[in-house]
Amino acid sequence: MPTPKGYSLGQIRLHWIVALLLVPQFILHDTIKADFIAIGKGEAISFSPLLAAHIFGGIALLLLMIWRLALRARRGAPRPPADEPAALQAVAKAVHVALYAILLLLPLSGLFAWFGHVNAAAQFHELMKLPLLALVGLHVLGALYHQFVLKNGLIERMKRAG
Ligand code: HEM
Ligand code: HEM
Repeated sequence: MPTPKGYSLGQIRLHWIVALLLVPQFILHDTIKADFIAIGKGEAISFSPLLAAHIFGGIALLLLMIWRLALRARRGAPRPPADEPAALQAVAKAVHVALYAILLLLPLSGLFAWFGHVNAAAQFHELMKLPLLALVGLHVLGALYHQFVLKNGLIERMKRAG
């Protein structure tokens, strides 16, 4: 895989669009949850914009993550900053890999739950909520550590194409 000097504009835009789209997925899930339970009991449900928002938002996130991975495979990603301690590099890499994996598995399990009526998929979907939040928290803490403790301007790498 090539090692460019920085992320491309496409990679940067996708990073921030995904981060933004995740917010409503976490706030607006009550409707789909209630509808999912109602369907399980054999009750009828009616269309609602909040239901559509969770389904289409989730599908958009899945497609954007696949696009991100394809871009990364073709263009690569920059090396970690030179002053980043080796242990921190390993943690950052593990968090990135886990974020990619969970953001593929979450929408896929949602699709299996909703369209395939697979209860195990629904349980998995619900179970993944906290690990995702924890990973995002760790990731943001890491970015802030770079910014304010190491002061190496890492966040610039996700703002300016290189
Ligand atoms: C990255 C994308 C997604 C995220 C972050 C996400 C997040 C969530 C969250 C936080 C809940 C509430 C869990 C709870 O507290 O019980 C939920 C519920 C649900 N979501 Fe998603 N979702 C995503 C994509 C999808 C997709 C594509 C579908 C497919 C239609 C879907 C279907 C469902 C269903 C059926 C429920 C209710 C059942 C359950 O709780 O597992 N989700 N989702
Ligand atoms: C305020 C919020 C956020 C900040 C400040 C931030 C910052 C950054 C920075 C600076 C990098 C580049 C790291 C490097 O060059 O080594 C990065 C990469 C990354 N971020 Fe974030 N991020 C945020 C939110 C998120 C969210 C919500 C996700 C979840 C999808 C995420 C997923 C990733 C991933 C997977 C990478 C690795 C990209 C790659 O190398 O392919 N970030 N982030």
